[in-house]
Amino acid sequence: MGSNKLLKVEGLYKSYGGHQKGRERNYAIADVNLSAASGDFLTLLGPSGCGKSTTLRCIAGLESPNLGTITVADRVLFSSDTGVSVRANDRGLGMVFQSYGIWPHMDVYKNAAFPLQVGDRKSRPSAKQVRERVERALEVVQLSQFAGRSATALSGGQQQRLALARALVMEPPLLLLDEPLSNLDAKLRTDMRFELKRLQHEIGVTTVYVTHDQSEALSMSTVIAVMSNGKVEQVGTPREVYGAPAAEFVARFVGSANLVAGKVAAVSEGEVTVKTPDGLIVASSQAGLSIGADVFVSVRPESVALSPVVDGGAHEPGEWEGVVDGSAYLGMTMEYRVKVGDTEWNVSGSSESPLADGTTVRLNFARHGCAAVPMAMSN
Ligand SMILES: Nc1ncnc2c1ncn2[C@@H]1O[C@H](COP(=O)(O)OP(=O)(O)OP(=O)(O)O)[C@@H](O)[C@H]1O
Ligand SMILES: [Mg+2]
Repeated sequence: MGSNKLLKVEGLYKSYGGHQKGRERNYAIADVNLSAASGDFLTLLGPSGCGKSTTLRCIAGLESPNLGTITVADRVLFSSDTGVSVRANDRGLGMVFQSYGIWPHMDVYKNAAFPLQVGDRKSRPSAKQVRERVERALEVVQLSQFAGRSATALSGGQQQRLALARALVMEPPLLLLDEPLSNLDAKLRTDMRFELKRLQHEIGVTTVYVTHDQSEALSMSTVIAVMSNGKVEQVGTPREVYGAPAAEFVARFVGSANLVAGKVAAVSEGEVTVKTPDGLIVASSQAGLSIGADVFVSVRPESVALSPVVDGGAHEPGEWEGVVDGSAYLGMTMEYRVKVGDTEWNVSGSSESPLADGTTVRLNFARHGCAAVPMAMSN
């Protein structure tokens, strides 16, 4: 029954609060399916309240699901079918939560050693093993030189790393991180992103990471599961969820894409031509769209090239024309607002020869940055 997946979550449902007779349950997560191969960095990405923490806490054993199966390294930790439910402490997983719960009365070393010194006396490692593991963990998070310092005398980022060291000393098969960078300032957060990724790579620990920050997800993950409303909308590599969103929600949430409504006018291998009120656009698409289908085309701001229309020019059918309606200088790039018909577009361009407000421009789309997704049934 072996599998190359280190983590498998199948058909997971969790509802908080009691079951009221005759009422449909309100599920915080419903039918969540996820998997991670050994060494993966799997990120659960989605807006506040979509069920990320609930999913993670179910894996950790801090919540009891109503239905489903959770398997780590071929060991069933939870199964509603067979009634298996391993206690959180016996799952042997590493966890770091948003509030990282450093023990203020202990120094750095003792904080890191703590998890190895609680729990079942028989299964505790020897003093020598504890020392070796703690020293290694502190080294990995680059806190060795602070081992004797009081935990309260650490900066936010250092406390964060200490929390991580504490999870790492367990040498867990799976590391669960719930928004572990959310309390840090922007600069430190970016630094920690790199640090965390390096660390995860170095020790090769399979990680499930929760965030609502898409750039965090895109920059750190090997796999992203985009969640909305208790459901997983898409699972894919950062490149896939960014460049080839499979659902309207994903297109809206990941990146700052422009979404244009239209109808599929032609279909060919892996591509569709979409007719919109403002012009034609060729987009990649997941298989299965047919002519006449209502779609959104998501267009990345960096996939639109703007060229000034000098002659006031002939406007061919299907061609896109707009007017620069505002701009912001961001160093390397310019962010433009471009008015096309009744729609405001976000376009980024080079800041070398910026376009002035009021310039009439032609829009050209890079095909790989345009993806057609079926219009969601609701809204
Ligand atoms: N202990 C609880 N009791 C009742 N409802 C809860 C509880 N914890 C979470 N919920 C509800 O379950 C849903 C999912 O919550 P969850 O904490 O998993 O969201 P999240 O994606 O982690 O959000 P955030 O980004 O804000 O942390 C929400 O509607 C939330 O209100
Ligand atoms: Mg949460």
